[in-house]
Amino acid sequence: MLGLRRPGTVAVKPVGPFDLGRLARLHRRCFSEPWSRADLAHLLALPGGFGLIARLYEGGLGGLDALRGVGFAICRVTRDESELLSLGVAPPWRGRRVGSALLRAAMARSREAGATLMFLEVAVDNHAAQRLYARHGFEIVGLRPDYYQRADGSRVGAHTMRCELDRVLAPGGRAVLGAPLNAAAGPAS
Ligand SMILES: CC(C)(COP(=O)(O)OP(=O)(O)OC[C@H]1O[C@@H](n2cnc3c(N)ncnc32)[C@H](O)[C@@H]1OP(=O)(O)O)[C@@H](O)C(=O)NCCC(=O)NCCS
Repeated sequence: MLGLRRPGTVAVKPVGPFDLGRLARLHRRCFSEPWSRADLAHLLALPGGFGLIARLYEGGLGGLDALRGVGFAICRVTRDESELLSLGVAPPWRGRRVGSALLRAAMARSREAGATLMFLEVAVDNHAAQRLYARHGFEIVGLRPDYYQRADGSRVGAHTMRCELDRVLAPGGRAVLGAPLNAAAGPAS
């Protein structure tokens, strides 16, 4: 199947048992306070926990298909609410809609799991992420002062954002998961 893909294609897939190391490396590239493999394994094993990974198909190398992990989303669904616990795209691949594809897939999968609302926290000074979330139907519904601690020990507040999944996702919107996205060959400069 992979051989039918064009190099530069990104697909969003559920995190599998062999993805934990890749996920931890990606998390470390995206956040100054990285989560360990054990942290990630714990979150994914929680009831309702799931992870998605965006894989870039780089073409056949020496007869083997090469898939590079370029982004991830981690979520937890509890009854009718989903929480986006983490979302990240490796720096060279930002600005190519990989984050949008991961968020959309996480929203679709949350709805399939029975969630009608999705929540997240985002640092008040993380404008790129806030723009991404607003574009996908999230609204600011609260402020948590001093929510995150930075690597230098300083603290920064977070906005709580909420999305009404049934209102935002089109009926039958599950096609997002696994739908290939062309991120063009090569990282952003
Ligand atoms: C936030 C993040 C996941 C976005 O991923 P992405 O693949 O770049 O997102 P997209 O390409 O789908 O772009 C979504 C929007 O964000 C904007 N954007 C992406 N990176 C940006 C940057 N560095 N600076 C400003 N805007 C940026 C895009 O222009 C786009 O806005 P538009 O739709 O108005 O044009 C990514 O920047 C990231 O991993 N950041 C570090 C980790 C993080 O902050 N995660 C969120 C924690 S709540």
